[in-house]
Amino acid sequence: MEYLKFCFVFSCCVKFADSVFSTDTPQAPAPIPKDKLLVLTVATQETDGFLRFMQTANYFNYTVKVLGMGEAWKGGDVGRSIGGGQKVRLLKEAMEALADQEDLVVLTVDSYDLIFAGGPEEILRKFQQANHKVLFAAEGIIWPDTRLADKYPSVRSGKRYLNSGGIIGYAPYVSRVVSQWNLHDNDDDQLFYTKIYLDPLQRQTLNMTLDHKCQIFQNLNGAVDEVLLKFGTDRVRVRNTAYDSLPVVVHGNGNTKMYLNYLGNYVPNTWNYDHGCSHCDDDVVDLSELKEYPYVLVGVFIEQPTPFLPEFFQRLLTLDYPKDKLKVFVHNNEVYHEKHIQKFWEANRNVFNTFKVVGPEENLSQGEARNMAMDECRKESTCDYYFSIDADVMLTNRQTLKLLIEQNRKIIGPLVTRHGKLWSNFWGALSLDGYYARSEDFVDIVQRKRMGVWNIPFMAHVYLVKGSVLRNEMKERNVFVLEKLDPDMGFCRNARELTSHREKDSPSPESFHMLRPPKGLFMYITNRHDFGRLISTANYNTSHYNNDLWQIYENPVDWKEKYINENYSRIFTENYLEEPCPDVFWFPVFSETACDEIVEEMEHYGSWSGGRHEDRRIAGGYETVPTDDIHMKQIGFDKEWLHFIREFISPVTLKVFSGYYTKGYAVMNFVVKYTPGRQSYLRPHHDSSTFTINIALNNKDSDFQGGGCRFHRYNCSIESPRKGWSFMHPGRLTHLHEGLPTTNGTRYIAVSFIDP
Ligand SMILES: *[C@@H]1O[C@H](CO)[C@@H](O)[C@H](O)[C@H]1NC(C)=O
Ligand SMILES: *[C@@H]1O[C@H](CO)[C@@H](O)[C@H](O)[C@H]1NC(C)=O
Ligand SMILES: *[C@@H]1O[C@H](CO)[C@@H](O)[C@H](O)[C@H]1NC(C)=O
Ligand SMILES: *[C@@H]1O[C@H](CO)[C@@H](O)[C@H](O)[C@H]1NC(C)=O
Ligand SMILES: *[C@@H]1O[C@H](CO)[C@@H](O)[C@H](O)[C@H]1NC(C)=O
Ligand SMILES: *[C@@H]1O[C@H](CO)[C@@H](O)[C@H](O)[C@H]1NC(C)=O
Ligand SMILES: *[C@@H]1O[C@H](CO)[C@@H](O)[C@H](O)[C@H]1NC(C)=O
Repeated sequence: MEYLKFCFVFSCCVKFADSVFSTDTPQAPAPIPKDKLLVLTVATQETDGFLRFMQTANYFNYTVKVLGMGEAWKGGDVGRSIGGGQKVRLLKEAMEALADQEDLVVLTVDSYDLIFAGGPEEILRKFQQANHKVLFAAEGIIWPDTRLADKYPSVRSGKRYLNSGGIIGYAPYVSRVVSQWNLHDNDDDQLFYTKIYLDPLQRQTLNMTLDHKCQIFQNLNGAVDEVLLKFGTDRVRVRNTAYDSLPVVVHGNGNTKMYLNYLGNYVPNTWNYDHGCSHCDDDVVDLSELKEYPYVLVGVFIEQPTPFLPEFFQRLLTLDYPKDKLKVFVHNNEVYHEKHIQKFWEANRNVFNTFKVVGPEENLSQGEARNMAMDECRKESTCDYYFSIDADVMLTNRQTLKLLIEQNRKIIGPLVTRHGKLWSNFWGALSLDGYYARSEDFVDIVQRKRMGVWNIPFMAHVYLVKGSVLRNEMKERNVFVLEKLDPDMGFCRNARELTSHREKDSPSPESFHMLRPPKGLFMYITNRHDFGRLISTANYNTSHYNNDLWQIYENPVDWKEKYINENYSRIFTENYLEEPCPDVFWFPVFSETACDEIVEEMEHYGSWSGGRHEDRRIAGGYETVPTDDIHMKQIGFDKEWLHFIREFISPVTLKVFSGYYTKGYAVMNFVVKYTPGRQSYLRPHHDSSTFTINIALNNKDSDFQGGGCRFHRYNCSIESPRKGWSFMHPGRLTHLHEGLPTTNGTRYIAVSFIDP
């Protein structure tokens, strides 16, 4: 990234230094003092977009007057076709008092979908350079009346058509423009300005022009490909590459709201390379200062067979949050998981404030289930937050819920990613048809090279929504079921657009031209902390007894956490292993769970060989030193087992028999059962292996008596095997050994003859 950063800064500064930072030429008139600039904007509600606008305005110390706050929006049908007249009416009223202030410059802009990238001095200087009394924003798309195209003066280079999202002019002139308004609130404002501008006489007498080359106003509609982020040391700007300009006002008109959200993640100072995130700690909630923790409804969704579900529930249990403040709603769509939930519930029935399960018998669709859970929070005025989490999210950070609450956003999710993959729970951009598109910063955010709180168009799997938002902006109860969209996409689209069904039908790009009604919610993803990961639910075969054992390929991190002994890594860091007999090494490798599940799996399979010499499972059909066993291959576990050997045994081999690189090849991999009634010991023998591993799968004394292993050449016995620990010893020549009799109970070991 350093390279990229350098590249950006270098190319931009060199090329654009002149156009932006040049001082005025000697003939230029005296600069207009910055206190002579007044920003007027119309906003009827403090939407997320409005607050962002104000944040950028305040950053540059603009003087802003907001018109219409608290009024009902009457400016037309969602800007779907025409509208916005209410804006002109309010402006006309406001300008009446300002009409005689000849040296006042008025900048009127939209605010829901607009940000400032530069300050008042710059805008005034550029306005002066334009040498007109009134300057309108321009764009390449004509709207709303395409028949007027011919009436526009032609331009050699630059945007030809007027956009009313940004106007700057001397107060008396702006007043003379807007005073002509005598239409209705739902009439079209842009058409009104267009007609005035297209009248040649008015164009001259009111001294009007368009900002053809985006010196001041950048409308993004139809121009997304022209703009880039330009990183500076303090600020980030938008650079128009078509005109070599650095626009001051950036307007996400049309269907470019999401692109503006992306730009707003950086511009003007939201995030840069030097300071990182500059607003991440604004308006945060300090939970430690609250008398009581907020109530959270936790919606848990098990929509398909999901590996490591017991571990998922354990993580929920270990979240650092008072459990009496958590109400849990589980939707389980899988009969297979009922036993897991039952077990968890029995052990923890009194832990949470409430614990409610809607099972597969309800036959709910995913969307219906998500609606139902969300509604549980919506309808309960004491529900402060709704925390939705899918069963494939492994939150390894116990503080996750607190951290999200403290970040204080209406909708926010923690970044979770598939281990080692660029797969994550958010999208940085959407394609025009609403599906995944990669944003320029996606990889850096996923890999946490850029850390912050990011305004994004889509997220799924895990997120927190304020209860108040559910009872206000999102009070419509069906937010997840949207035709043809999967529920998460439905939810995000509803949050982004919050429009009624009618308007969702045919959003043609140009129809989003106008000021949107004050709604769309911002959704954020935070990657300020490492929160956890997404597991893969693909290829989850549930036809075994303990299915997670088979997940070593698909979900290696979770597999290791569940099945590998917690002290395994200490073998390498602290030499945590023993040598009880010469060249017999002894080390922890399996967790208790691994041992138990392998034994269960074998007993579930049940066809023990009986310890006979005739053995059809092996080449030649004859076993000289037979054991009562089941081969890994018989339960379909041989590939996974060999992978385990390569991943976890090979490194130990290399450590204790230095210079020996095992290929991890083994034909004989099996679990042996010793019990007095059947086979209780094994007579002295050599193994047909370069080396052998022998892992104890249960406990001496509690599970059996006797047992152990004796190496004859060294007159050395190990009589207290440890569950989960493995022996590793040479096979053919030096280590003649026998299995000592198990005198009571049943002893299980897992054995592999490696590199035969
Ligand atoms: C805005 O005003 C404050 C206080 O006067 C000043 O510290 C700050 O530098 C100004 N910001 C800009 C971008 O000029
Ligand atoms: C517009 O006004 C500027 C001064 O603000 C003047 O120099 C210019 O000639 C005027 N243009 C027209 C077409 O009247
Ligand atoms: C479950 O719902 C689906 C779709 O609504 C329906 O086709 C199916 O018959 C239902 N199954 C049961 C058992 O009710
Ligand atoms: C699932 O495992 C069973 C038992 O080993 C096997 O027969 C089946 O083919 C597997 N299914 C898939 C899709 O791999
Ligand atoms: C790991 O080692 C620690 C201390 O040596 C011990 O207390 C703990 O029980 C060990 N864990 C396992 C799973 O054996
Ligand atoms: C083997 O060791 C045992 C003690 O561990 C000892 O009593 C016995 O004499 C030894 N046998 C041989 C043959 O060295
Ligand atoms: C054998 O084990 C059982 C339980 O596993 C125990 O009740 C019994 O006392 C044991 N017998 C001997 C001789 O240790």
